[in-house]
Order: sequence, then C-alpha cells, then structure tokens
Amino acid sequence: MDHDPLRELKVRQQKIEAMGGPARIAKQHQAGKLTARERIALLLDEGTFEEIGAHIRHRSTFFGLDKQDIPADAVVTGSGRINGRVVYVFSQDFTVAGGSLGEMHAQKIQHLQDLALKTGSPIIGLNDSGGARIQEGVDALSGYGEIFKRNTWSSGVIPQITVIMGPSAGGAVYSPALTDFIIMVRRTGQMFITGPQVIKTVTGEEVTGEQIGGADAQIRKSGVAHFAANNDEEALQLVRHLLSYLPNNNRELPMVVPSQDPLDRMIPFLGQVVPQDANKPYDVKRIIEHVVDSGSFLEVQQGYADNVVIGFARVGGHTIGIVANQPRILAGTMDINGSDKLARFVRFCDAFNIPLVTFVDTPGYLPGTAQEYGGIIRHGAKVLFAYAEATVPKVTVILRKAYGGAYLAMCSRSLGADWVLAWPTAEIAVMGPEGAANIIFRDIINHAEDPVAMRQQKAEEYREEFANPYVAASRGYIDAVIDPQETRFRIARALMTLTNKRDDRPHKKHGNIPL
Ligand code: HXC
Repeated sequence: MDHDPLRELKVRQQKIEAMGGPARIAKQHQAGKLTARERIALLLDEGTFEEIGAHIRHRSTFFGLDKQDIPADAVVTGSGRINGRVVYVFSQDFTVAGGSLGEMHAQKIQHLQDLALKTGSPIIGLNDSGGARIQEGVDALSGYGEIFKRNTWSSGVIPQITVIMGPSAGGAVYSPALTDFIIMVRRTGQMFITGPQVIKTVTGEEVTGEQIGGADAQIRKSGVAHFAANNDEEALQLVRHLLSYLPNNNRELPMVVPSQDPLDRMIPFLGQVVPQDANKPYDVKRIIEHVVDSGSFLEVQQGYADNVVIGFARVGGHTIGIVANQPRILAGTMDINGSDKLARFVRFCDAFNIPLVTFVDTPGYLPGTAQEYGGIIRHGAKVLFAYAEATVPKVTVILRKAYGGAYLAMCSRSLGADWVLAWPTAEIAVMGPEGAANIIFRDIINHAEDPVAMRQQKAEEYREEFANPYVAASRGYIDAVIDPQETRFRIARALMTLTNKRDDRPHKKHGNIPL
C-alpha cells in the first residue's frame, strides 16, 4: 500500500491530541480538573494557539520507559494571544505519566522560556505534575535546573505567571516560586517541599496534603501564593485579568484600558472615613476602591499579612501599583510578613514600569520578641531598599498616622517619593503622642500630683504641636495638604505630571537587598 504522508501526520496528531486516553481524561474530570488542552483553550483567545514541539518524545530507556508512549512528553507548549497580546504557555498533562517532567518535557519548557524572553512576551505555566519523572533520574533533575535558571534570567524582564492546578511537589515547586505570581486552584492545587508521608516519617506530624500545601495554606500561612481560585475556569480567567494590568516586558508600558470614570470625580465619602479618634480603625480598601477607576482594584495576596494591602488598579485607564497600611489589622503596624509582601510588590512594579501610589496610616513597627528574633530589622529594611531603589513615579498620600521609621519606610519624601500629599488628618511624628509624652515629659509626669492627668495633658500638647501635617509641610516633606474628597483628582494630576519621569541610578551589577 502507498504511504500517505498526510494520513500519517493525521494519525500522529490524533494520538497526541488523545493525550492519556479516555479513561485517564475521565479520571482527570472526576477529580474536578480540566485537561492540559482544555485549559489552554480557555486561557487563550479563541483559535490563537500555535503548538510547538507536539511530536517531541522522550529518549529514556530506563525501567521500560522505551516501551511507554508519552504523548507530547506530558506537556503541551506553544504561543497564543490573550486580548490580542502574544503570550507563551505550557500546560502539563497529568493524564500522561502523571504530567511528570523528564528531560524532553523540560526542554520543551526551556525552549518556550527562551522564546518568551527573546520576544519580550509574558509566559504562563499551568502546573499539574507528579514532579521529576522518577525513571529519568538525573536528566529530569537537570531539566528543572535549566528551567530555574531561565526563570531567574527572565525575572524583571517578562512577566511570569504560574497556575497550580494539581500537585507540585518537592523541588518542582521552585520554578513557580521564582515566577512573579502564583494562582492556586482550591482543593486540586497543592504545593509542598515534603508531603504528608515524609513529614509523618521525619517529624511524626500528621497533616493532609491540603493542610500542608493547599491554596489556603500557601496563601494565608506561608505567603507563597498570591491568588486562589475555586476551579480551573476561574483561575484561567484570573490570569487573563491579571495580565491586563501588566506590560509585555520591562521595556514597555502596560496597556491603557479606557475608563468612563471621570478623573475629577469628587469623593465626599473620603472626608468622613477617618475616625476622629486616632485609635479607631477603618478599612483602607474602601478608600482605595473609591479613588481608583471604578471596579479596577485587583488585590494581590489577600489573606496574607493583611496589615499591608497591595494590588493593581487603574487611574484614567493607566495601571498603578497600590500599597497601603490597613488600620483594621494590627492597627496598620508594619511587621515581618507585611514588609516582605510590600517590598516584593514594589520591586515588581518598579521592574515593569508601573507607578506606585502609597496610602499611609501606620503607628510604626509591631513590637515584640517574635518580631525582633524573627528579623524585623532585616525584613523591614527590604521596604526601605525597595522604595529607595524604585525609579517609577512614586506618589504618597498620608491619611492619618505616619510615625517614626514606618513613616520613612512608607515611601516618604526622603526615600524618594516624587509627590507627597497629606490629608488634614495626617499626623507625622517620631512616635505616637502617648509614647512621646512618656519619654520627653517623664520627670514632669512622675512629679505631678496626678500623673495620669499630666500624661494626658502632655500628650495633648505634643499632639497639637506635631500631630498634624503642617510641620512636615513647612519643611517641604509634604507637597500639598488636600481636601480628602479631591484625592482621586490630585493623584491623577500628580501621576500625569510624572509621566515622563526618568531617574537613573549609578551602574552596578545588582544591589544587595537584605533577604
Ligand atoms: C513518573 C509518575 C510520577 C513521577 C506520577 N506518575 N508521578 N511517573 N514520575 N514523578 C505516574 C504514576 O505512576 C501513574 O502512572 C500516573 O502518573 C498517575 O499517578 P497516580 O499516582 O495514579 O495519581 P494520583 O493518585 O492522583 O497521585 C498523584 C501524585 C502521586 C500524588 C502526584 O503520583 C505521587 O506521589 N507521585 C510521585 C511524586 C513525587 O514524589 N515526585 C518527585 C518529587 S521530587 P500510571 O501509569 O499508573 O497511570 C521532584 C524533584 C524535583 O520533583 C527537583 C528539582 C530540583
């Protein structure tokens, strides 16, 4: 019979597209997971996927692997478009050899990483894998090493987004950890270095995979992941949404998403939001949501170190990075986890040309042995480093308390803020009035007939002197004291004037951020 090359191609293609076969695909669906190809179809603009390396085959012969067919070597890779923009995507196929990563599987991902970097395009990894393909031994391990290296080279050049849609165990978690954002699917996505069995053997602790590495653990407890989604569809929609705030690479600006929300919108609510009593909390997220383009705030790492709020938003259609203290949680103090969260976000925004808007209301650093022994000095220093290093436009709005080192850290003028606005409720001081009175009026208070009343009186005197924005404004540390209802307009105008900001630092290989 004549050989029909076209027919051969079709047969081969069908085999590749059949992935692990109907039984394994059914099992995947029963587990609440989509297949690698279904995920790609949902992620990308319709009909834009261009597959790369579908015919790649492993070449290992150990443990009978030479007789095992592993379509596409358990990972589907290629390019496509999201809202018209070119992206590269790899999607591990759990229905084939458990999505395990062997030498050629790894090479497919590496090739994609190289293309994404050379073309300045975002790369998205959909992870669902049993980890290093055990039969391939050191070739599989080395494959991971090559991926980690490329993750690092790409960091700060192109956005890298990971979705954890199945297991991600052992050293395999480090590629996701080297990317910019991790989205985890609840219940099906799990990440851990050592799983339940190893933990039980070594430490005797009994935990489930979900407890140790599920979405809630990795978002709320460890801060490893940034977003949780309820299912595959939601996670993939979130990738598309997140990407809408980001540029293609570090030489471009994020796309502009036109907004109907007027820039000069007055916001009377903001005049009442800060309570008269300085010890009363309020929700800074409500301020953010009122100020930015309506509906544009996307909070990042919600549920972790919520005393600091970070996220993307838009003003006049342009992406900004928002950083804020949250007076509702730990009174808005700065701590170890909040510092790490803040600093990494600031560095991401700076790397990708996203202006920073910082809302300040913090009484200072969280006191205690846990913080000191945990290295708050080292972690807090990251915030100073990140803000001082950042060359993107930096606008700061002081809402209420801005005390001590935390005042400086929250993008103060001295750290390089380009534009500092303050509400009339702002209090800029070395420390809170009560603490300050205790120290500088100690003798007077101790010798008073009624020390309690005297402490209160002295604290009040201190508050009147310093707990306002005008001393700082008179020294030029604040550029304008504004009516809160004008906040959106004033931020927008500051950002507009800073559009062409160029701020170069001395050439160096890289800085040495305290880690
Ligand atoms: C080869 C693997 C595999 C692996 C799974 N499979 N993981 N094959 N290498 N790492 C295969 C299984 O043999 C099975 O094949 C199929 O995938 C589906 O796996 P099941 O076990 O049936 O699925 P499930 O019950 O859902 O369990 C999933 C799992 C489990 C929890 C991921 O498979 C598992 O524990 N796998 C090993 C995980 C692991 O320890 N990996 C190494 C991590 S260390 P058949 O043919 O039977 O369907 C690592 C180092 C990286 O990755 C280092 C980087 C520096």
